Amino acid sequence: MPKNDTQRKNLWRKILFTKDNFMETIPFDDRDGVIWFNGEMVPWREARLHVLSHALHYASCVFEGERSYAGKIFKLTEHSERLAMSAEALGFDLPYSVAEIDAACIETCKQNDIIDGYVRPVAWRGSEMMGVSAQATRINVAIAAWPWPSYFSPEARMKGIRLKTSDWRRPDPQTAPVMAKAAGLYMICTLSKHAAEAEGYDDCLMLDWRGQVAEATGANIFLVFDDGKLYTPTPDCFLDGITRRTVIDLARQRGIEVVERVIMPGELKDANEIFLTGTAAEVTPVGEIDDLKFSVGKITQWMMEDYDKAVGKEEAKDSGDDEAAA
Ligand SMILES: Cc1ncc(COP(=O)(O)O)c(C=O)c1O
Repeated sequence: MPKNDTQRKNLWRKILFTKDNFMETIPFDDRDGVIWFNGEMVPWREARLHVLSHALHYASCVFEGERSYAGKIFKLTEHSERLAMSAEALGFDLPYSVAEIDAACIETCKQNDIIDGYVRPVAWRGSEMMGVSAQATRINVAIAAWPWPSYFSPEARMKGIRLKTSDWRRPDPQTAPVMAKAAGLYMICTLSKHAAEAEGYDDCLMLDWRGQVAEATGANIFLVFDDGKLYTPTPDCFLDGITRRTVIDLARQRGIEVVERVIMPGELKDANEIFLTGTAAEVTPVGEIDDLKFSVGKITQWMMEDYDKAVGKEEAKDSGDDEAAA
């Protein structure tokens, strides 16, 4: 972990020169474009908030992660609905309807010329009150969008990414609003992912508070055993991802039986294939978990292909748009 400015700069340089995607390395507060901010488009660099914002101190913040493929945001309304549900789980109502958030996401992509990219709506309590109780704070909403090809590099994806089991666990639903995409829940994800990256892994596998297999830090998990069925943990204390639900539908359309049940870490050694699903990760094969190895099998490949088709990547490929096919 960097301990001072020089170490931080060195880490930054390392990231800058090892990432193939230059856009990822431009600081997020210093880009061209516009950001939708409480109903208006503001210049990107001016979309700022005060240091005494309640969300910064008390994590009263929810967000979404969406992707636009060939000019269309995949499952846009499901994401806007989840944003509203997450806000409600944190005790606040969004000052905009789902239809208004949908329209604002589309307009933000349009004004930033995003065809293939990532869309980030965020809603948070403002700076009107500072303290645990913050009933009268303004609820702010912003939406940013930027070009963003692949979460894991294409080579890492096809080899299968490497996961390490995290020491941190997904909390009990009586400890936190686990179904919400709430910023506070990502504290354990960042801690876990940093620990995994420090040992050369791509990401980590998180168990839940009972010691059952849960998910990765930003994606759900699927396994294939000898019976050829697709298994995934029941989402009772982590996000029931929109991609997870999409992949379950796609698998069933292929005639593959999908089983949602408790999965214990001891069962991982019996899996023939494992993959992750998420808006950012899409369908990403897992090659290793700790000292276990897995190959990229047939069902994983089918799900990758079917998901690419469902999001519209195949159409983009047919029309010669390479970026979308990356
Ligand atoms: C912790 C976590 N789990 C799962 C997912 C997958 O969710 P989705 O498929 O809706 O992107 C995400 C991504 O949003 C996530 O952050």
